[in-house]
Amino acid sequence: MSHSWSPTSWKNFPASQQPTYADQSALDTVLGQLRRLPPLVTSWEIDNLTQRISEAQIGNAWILQGGDCAETFDQCQTEPIASKLKLLLQMSLAIVFGARKRIVRIGRMAGQYAKPRSSETETQNGITLPCYRGDIVNRYEFNEQSRIPTPEYLLRGYERSALTLNFIRALSEGGFADLHHPENWNLLFVNEAKGEVAMRYRELVKSLGDSIRFMETILHESTPELKRVDFFTSHEALHLDYETALTRESIRGIGYYNMGTHLPWIGERTRQLNGAHVEYFRGIRNPVAVKVSGAIHPEELLELLIKLNPDDKPGKVTLIHRMGRARIESQLPVLIEAVTKSRRPVLWVCDPMHGNTVSTSVGRKTRRFDDIVDELKLSFAIHRACGSALGGAHLELTGENVTECVGGSRGITESDLESAYQTQLDPRLNYEQALEIAFEISNQLSQQRF
Ligand code: PEP
Ligand code: CO
Repeated sequence: MSHSWSPTSWKNFPASQQPTYADQSALDTVLGQLRRLPPLVTSWEIDNLTQRISEAQIGNAWILQGGDCAETFDQCQTEPIASKLKLLLQMSLAIVFGARKRIVRIGRMAGQYAKPRSSETETQNGITLPCYRGDIVNRYEFNEQSRIPTPEYLLRGYERSALTLNFIRALSEGGFADLHHPENWNLLFVNEAKGEVAMRYRELVKSLGDSIRFMETILHESTPELKRVDFFTSHEALHLDYETALTRESIRGIGYYNMGTHLPWIGERTRQLNGAHVEYFRGIRNPVAVKVSGAIHPEELLELLIKLNPDDKPGKVTLIHRMGRARIESQLPVLIEAVTKSRRPVLWVCDPMHGNTVSTSVGRKTRRFDDIVDELKLSFAIHRACGSALGGAHLELTGENVTECVGGSRGITESDLESAYQTQLDPRLNYEQALEIAFEISNQLSQQRF
């Protein structure tokens, strides 16, 4: 029998990965302020995303979810935000060519500020300090003061999310996103690029322009649907006090929504069946995603689906598998088979990043591009073999010209990593690597249609 849910019922369950604040009354003051601030997204937008995900579940749409491992307050700037949006728009153009179905774009953006960590502390040169938990909690710099969890940062995180979202909304609705002018999405540093991937993209844009002109000539009018794009936001809803402060009752009287993001997800480290995160997530009306590695038992996964979506609502649950290239063949089929047999509706998305993190000889965290592509290709094949279908990809990427993952068409090597390694946490795909992945997805989807 399930007990009653409220936005704070999670407090009766063990909550892992939460910061400890020294001053509870300072935290309560900030949470009170947050509760009075307006929501960042609306219940209508959220329901719209649920609808889109339900379309993806039956093969009529494809989900592209991507962005930084962790946004930082400092990177809440014009270029990083616009570049990420440009890249995701370019990738969805590449994918739609093969998929011939609607692409649903979801940023790991406008709120991806809280990070789960494998250790509570970090030690450097014999000094041990609390770990960095993301900009919404504390600071990355390795000194005692920086690592103190600071309630004020919750407000700063809310504000940065709002600023980011405001910019994204303006870009999505206005002339920037107009498909008649995909040149707006060119990244400054690749305009002249001669690389194979950039050239392939330019050809695609040209043929797209021809198709649009042809269609509009026949129709004798321009198509308003091509002048704007839908763009949704997502983040790991890790910091439960923050998420609760942004959880509001819909004015339509149909229940509670997390109005801080469209698609909150539960991370691999916080998906315990009797944990606080699952308790919080089971009561909100947003579509929700859960990261799963091979460590989850099929029975446990089914129980999770029952908890999160007892009424089997289409579009409600997305499962993001992140096994790793070396493990996906042995670990994914049992999960797919269990879910298929249960007939519970889910959308399967592949995160080919988080199971493929390795350390270089000098201790840099990286990911091999080939492992990422292989895991993605294997995902398509495994789903097909199990009579299921892969409905999306979840990627860590940036529109900046970084060198964090090795490989790809430019052949980034381990020694190249030092030249533009910027991430504080996980290594991201750069522009070319991300676009190359998009072409591979496009290729896979074009085969899936026959
Ligand atoms: C992440 O998405 O950055 C992350 C921590 O993933 P996971 O929960 O899958 O480890
Ligand atoms: Co990450």
